[in-house]
Amino acid sequence: MTQTDHPIDTPPRAPSPVHRFGTLAVHAGSPHDPSTGAVIEPISLSTTFAQTAVGKPVGIYEYSRSSNPNRDNFEKAVAAIEHAKYALAFSSGSATTAIILQSLASGSHVISVSDVYGGTHRYFTQVAKAHGVNVTFTPEIEVDISKYIKPETKLVWIESPSNPTLRLVDIRAVASVAHQHGIMVVVDNTFLSPYVQNPLDHGADIVVHSVTKYINGHSDVVMGVAAFNSDSMKERLSFLQNAIGAVPSAFDSWLAHRGLKTLHLRAREATVNATAVAHALEASPHVTAVNYPGLDSHPHRKIALKQHRNGMGGGMVSFRIKGGHEAAERFCQYTSLFTLAESLGGIESLVEVPSSMTHAGIPKEQREAVGVFDDLVRVSCGIEDAEDLKADVLQALEKAVVWPKITNGINGLSTNGA
Ligand SMILES: Cc1ncc(COP(=O)(O)O)c(C=O)c1O
Repeated sequence: MTQTDHPIDTPPRAPSPVHRFGTLAVHAGSPHDPSTGAVIEPISLSTTFAQTAVGKPVGIYEYSRSSNPNRDNFEKAVAAIEHAKYALAFSSGSATTAIILQSLASGSHVISVSDVYGGTHRYFTQVAKAHGVNVTFTPEIEVDISKYIKPETKLVWIESPSNPTLRLVDIRAVASVAHQHGIMVVVDNTFLSPYVQNPLDHGADIVVHSVTKYINGHSDVVMGVAAFNSDSMKERLSFLQNAIGAVPSAFDSWLAHRGLKTLHLRAREATVNATAVAHALEASPHVTAVNYPGLDSHPHRKIALKQHRNGMGGGMVSFRIKGGHEAAERFCQYTSLFTLAESLGGIESLVEVPSSMTHAGIPKEQREAVGVFDDLVRVSCGIEDAEDLKADVLQALEKAVVWPKITNGINGLSTNGA
């Protein structure tokens, strides 16, 4: 991409939605079927569409990789709830990241926050370089973005909240510096979902999601999406969507669209649950630190109040447990409602140890520099009942931290006695 055909050539024009979030989630991109009146759209599995003469398709569709009704409807719904003019869906969140990076010309430079999702870090460090795109990471992007900007810098990548340390970035502050240099700003909004945060409203140029998480919300679809306002960006990314072909199936698009219709209900409930769990963790003697943007103790709470709907903290919490990595692993064994598994944002609660699971690929020193210590545990709160989740966390803490001390004590006694 050259300086002249930079995507920020069209002033962002966000459509002004008439309706509120829940109404948009239920109705955007959801036309009744014109032939049968079906209230829920049919799944259009056909890979190809008949033409009445050469180059004259019956409707607007020709071949399903290029576009199909279910993907179109899903994309319209995401655009509506992200306050964007356009949205494009891809076969995964990772494919979305890859395609945005591929849209940059060889020789381009990217500035990224340090604590990005492990797979994003892997793409930035091991794949982007192969097509001539170099990435500089910084843990304090608001402070030192100017220091890293070069003539070749074309893109700034933000994850807010970051995964798994839940640090926040002031999107407006970063975007105002980046835009002075014609640099576009991408925000990975996976951890909050469009219900809690709309990055385009805070100056971002593109917002991306792993749809796999909150937007689909039922842990049964892998998909990604990018939403934005620029016409030239639409042209460029649609071209790559078709040319690379990393597209979601019609069935997955239909499923993800169904999930999206209840996003507001799920995101609210997950926040209620995560808030209860975060407070319980903060009060526990077995925990040394809690990362949750909904807590007043969070170092970026002011940003949450500015950027998140009603200052909501979202459904993700991470914490450092007393007793090191072993205690972190034991905690995951002892929870009964939180399932030990990667991923997040589904209706069911999950738990994981980032240092040996999602972030295992990042070298230890780099991980620890951004707070991903071996004793860090990450939980994704689902939509079960808050009291049950809290009780599950507290009993698992007791077993993971206190039981080994008692067992050691008993062992010690018996040894002494012998
Ligand atoms: C913040 C974030 N971004 C992107 C991704 C990648 O998404 P996917 O797994 O759909 O490729 C993930 C996956 O966990 C993620 O957590």
